[in-house]
Amino acid sequence: MGPEGPLVMGIRNYFESQKDLASIRMVGPGKDGAQLEGSKDFSKQFMVRHSVPTAQARTFQANESKEAIQYLDGCKAPIVLKADGLAAGKGVIISSTIEEAKVSIKEMLEEKKFGEASSKVLVEEFLHGIELSVFVLTDGEHYVILPEAKDYKRIGDNDTGPNTGGMGAVSPVAFADSVFMKKVEDRVIKPTIAGLKKEGISYKGFIFIGLMNMQGEPYVIEYNARMGDPETEAVITRIDTDLVELLDACAKGQLKNYKIAISPNYAVTIVMASGGYPENFEKGKIISGLNESDKAVIFHAGTINKDNKILTNGGRVLAVTGTGQTLAEASKHAYVAVSKISWEAAYYRKDISLDLLKIESQA
Ligand code: AMP
Ligand code: GLY
Repeated sequence: MGPEGPLVMGIRNYFESQKDLASIRMVGPGKDGAQLEGSKDFSKQFMVRHSVPTAQARTFQANESKEAIQYLDGCKAPIVLKADGLAAGKGVIISSTIEEAKVSIKEMLEEKKFGEASSKVLVEEFLHGIELSVFVLTDGEHYVILPEAKDYKRIGDNDTGPNTGGMGAVSPVAFADSVFMKKVEDRVIKPTIAGLKKEGISYKGFIFIGLMNMQGEPYVIEYNARMGDPETEAVITRIDTDLVELLDACAKGQLKNYKIAISPNYAVTIVMASGGYPENFEKGKIISGLNESDKAVIFHAGTINKDNKILTNGGRVLAVTGTGQTLAEASKHAYVAVSKISWEAAYYRKDISLDLLKIESQA
C-alpha cells in the first residue's frame, strides 16, 4: 500500500480530530479529497461535473454484470476496465477484444477479482496517445505546478510485460511544451482546484494528474492524491526551492504568490528491482557498488541495513537518478551509476528515456 491507503482511510481527519495532534502541520488531503484517487467512479463524475476532459465511461455495480456485458456489445475495442477502489495499481485491465472484456468484467463484478475494490467497475473508452504525469501542490485556494514527468510502467523494455509501480521516470518531457502545459493548466488544473472548492472539499496536498496527450490535447486518465514513485525521484531532483519551505507554505495555506524555482536540467530515474518482480522475488541479497558514482543520486526503497551491509528488502529496491544539461547526459549519468551497482538477480530496464531521445532527435 502506498501513501494513498492512509489518506483514503482518513489519516488527516484522524489527526484533526485529536486534541494533541491537531496542531501538527499536514500535507495531504482528507478523506473527502482523497476520493479523487480512492474511487475511480467519484473521480470520473467529478471530472464530468467540472468539464475536465477525460475518457467516456460508465459505471456498473456488482449486480449489474448483465447490463455491463450488454453495454460492451456497443463498445469498440480496445476497452478499459477499472475497479472503482484502490487495488495497489493493479485494478486496470485493458482488453484488446470485447470478448476478453466480457470475461474480465464477470471476474471483476461477480467473482470480486479485486475484492471490494471491484464491487463497482468502470467501462472506459481507450485513449490513444502518449502519457505523462503532471504534479500540482495546492493549499485549497492556490497552487504551484511542479515539473512534469514520464513514467515507464511495464516491467520489460519497450513497454512489454506486466504493469509495475513504475520502472523509471524522466523529467522534463519534451512533448509537454508551453502550449500543451497551458492547455493542461486552463482545462485541467484550474477546473480541478475550483471544483474541489466548489464542492466544499478543503484540499491541502499533492494532486498527481495522469494525462494522455492525444495529438496535442490533454485528457485525464486518473488523479492520485499523492506524488508518484519513481516520478518523485526525478521531479524533486529538479526543484531548487527548499522542499520543506514549500510543504510548510502549503500546510499553512500560504501558496499564494509562492514562486517555485525549477532547474532547467534533465533528470532520469532508473529503478533497480529484484529479479522476478512484479511477481515472486527473493530478498536479502547483498548490494554492492553503491558509492562508486558521484554523478547520480541513489534513493533507497526496498533496502535494509543489517550488520553494516545493505541488503535488498523489496521488489523495487533502488531509484537511481542522474541529472544533466541534456537528456542524453542525464541518462548516461544514471546508467553509469546503475552499471556499477549489483546484487544477485538485479533487474532494470535498459530503455528508460530512449523514446524521448528519439522524439528529440526528430524535432
Ligand atoms: P490507472 O491505474 O488509472 O493509472 O491506469 C493504469 C494505466 O492504464 C495508465 O497509466 C494507462 O497506461 C492505462 N490506462 C488507463 N486508462 C486508460 C484509457 N482510458 N486509455 C488508455 N490507457 C489507459
Ligand atoms: N508511478 C506511478 C504511481 O506512483 O502511481
